[in-house]
Amino acid sequence: MRIFLDTANIDDIRRGAAMGVVDGVTTNPTLVAKEGVEYKARVLEICDVIDGPISAECISTEIEALVQEARRIASWHPNVVVKIAMSELGLQAIHRVSAEGIKVNTTLIFSANQALLAARAGATYVSPFIGRLQDAGHDGLEVIREIVAMFETFHLPTQVLAASLRGARDVTEAALAGAHIATIPPAVLFQMANHPLTDVGTQRFLADAAKYTAV
Ligand code: E4P
Repeated sequence: MRIFLDTANIDDIRRGAAMGVVDGVTTNPTLVAKEGVEYKARVLEICDVIDGPISAECISTEIEALVQEARRIASWHPNVVVKIAMSELGLQAIHRVSAEGIKVNTTLIFSANQALLAARAGATYVSPFIGRLQDAGHDGLEVIREIVAMFETFHLPTQVLAASLRGARDVTEAALAGAHIATIPPAVLFQMANHPLTDVGTQRFLADAAKYTAV
């Protein structure tokens, strides 16, 4: 499973990149607003740090405007993936721009049927929102399993990008459910590198190492 960072914070992206484990980045209007920066400038900054798919979201609510916006965002950088929200309008836009070679990440996916439609319309990625499904009392991981099974059965090339992950255990579960990618908040990624027994073990080794002379 590949790992994307779910953030627009450039310091966290640099920190994750230095760890050598970040394959891409997903942003959304909420994450960019939190940073108080200009969207295009920040996406280009991210593209300088991570050589992989960088998702940037469209916000237009009318078909021609949405298609134009998707084309404009895709032209920012070859690694930019256009995020389009799931809806009938979104499917029309995905169908049109993916035929032009633009890579689309369909966002706000909450069911396997939505993912199937997005894949058939030509999306490169579908993003089921696991945390928000769990918040509403649904089994988000089961939705991932259904999408993965469906795509495998019908040889659909669209990749399942598990999104809205809230904790380290969610990442493990998403991987076991067969997600191709997990997009992870930075705090969760950094926490995944730690374990209390690792800390105890490190302290013990350091204490014992102080008892002899290293070569
Ligand atoms: C990423 O593509 C999504 O926009 C993000 O994971 C949503 O996460 P949230 O439900 O925590 O806002």
